[in-house]
Amino acid sequence: MQESLDTTTVAFDEDTGVGRVTLNRPDALNALSGQLRDDIIESLRLLEDQNDEEIALRVVVLEGAEGNFCAGADITEFDDAAAGASSSRDHYRFIRDFPAPVIAKIEGYCLGGGLETAMACDFRFADEDARLGLPEVDLGIIPGAGGVQYIAKLANPAAAKEIAMTGEHISASRAKELGIVNRVPDDVEETTQEFAETIASKPPLAIQAIKDSARMATQSTLEEGIEYDNTVFEPLLATEDHEEGARAFAEDDYEPEFKGR
Ligand code: COA
Repeated sequence: MQESLDTTTVAFDEDTGVGRVTLNRPDALNALSGQLRDDIIESLRLLEDQNDEEIALRVVVLEGAEGNFCAGADITEFDDAAAGASSSRDHYRFIRDFPAPVIAKIEGYCLGGGLETAMACDFRFADEDARLGLPEVDLGIIPGAGGVQYIAKLANPAAAKEIAMTGEHISASRAKELGIVNRVPDDVEETTQEFAETIASKPPLAIQAIKDSARMATQSTLEEGIEYDNTVFEPLLATEDHEEGARAFAEDDYEPEFKGR
């Protein structure tokens, strides 16, 4: 499946279960217009609907067209946003709550709402030349979609304040050092695709449970989180995929095929 919306393109590979959403406003460095926010949500919905294929959607790669991830909120639409015009377009929450893992493949600029979009994803793989930052302070505002909160959690509060108060762009390797970025590989496209296919080949229900569990870890006490894990652990023991995995472990030459059941 390959489809173009106004400001995104969407592709789904039915052999691997990997979906791809490309932000496609390169003339504005893929800045988040209201239309683009809507199209990100619509693109993810289209991928979620790929249930008729033998392999349903397993993982999504989110990227920007023509060498930049996203230069943040579209500054030319700021008055509309202030009037609440984009309040219904919360693509950040949609990505965060999306059942399949989402990997941000970051090249070029990844600023403001672009970095917040990447931090709403489950993973961030960045090209070594990528530049990340929260420049909102220079517009007299703060990152409005949790930029400071995310960095405080992924790295630490001092790093969050440093990045948001200076508004400076940091390198991919610095972002990795801080824990904001997972990997800075030599070939970001190849590594992201390989990683996506690895995750896509795993039992989908277990992957979804791990995503939910990691989210709980950021919102609850350790004890509450462990209790939550116990409630999802038991049902997984009864899945066909658990049986499949156990068989593959026991039989040397058996390649498991996980179905999400
Ligand atoms: N909103 C709307 N348009 C944007 C944009 C944004 N956030 N960021 C870049 N663009 C547009 C520019 O206006 C320019 O359009 P034009 O060619 O029609 O003039 C085009 O994208 C290319 O940007 P340009 O500034 O010429 O490229 P550059 O390489 O000199 O600088 C940046 C790149 C990212 C450093 C610079 O564009 C920038 O600082 N952008 C704003 C980033 C920001 O503050 N984001 C947070 C907003 S809250």
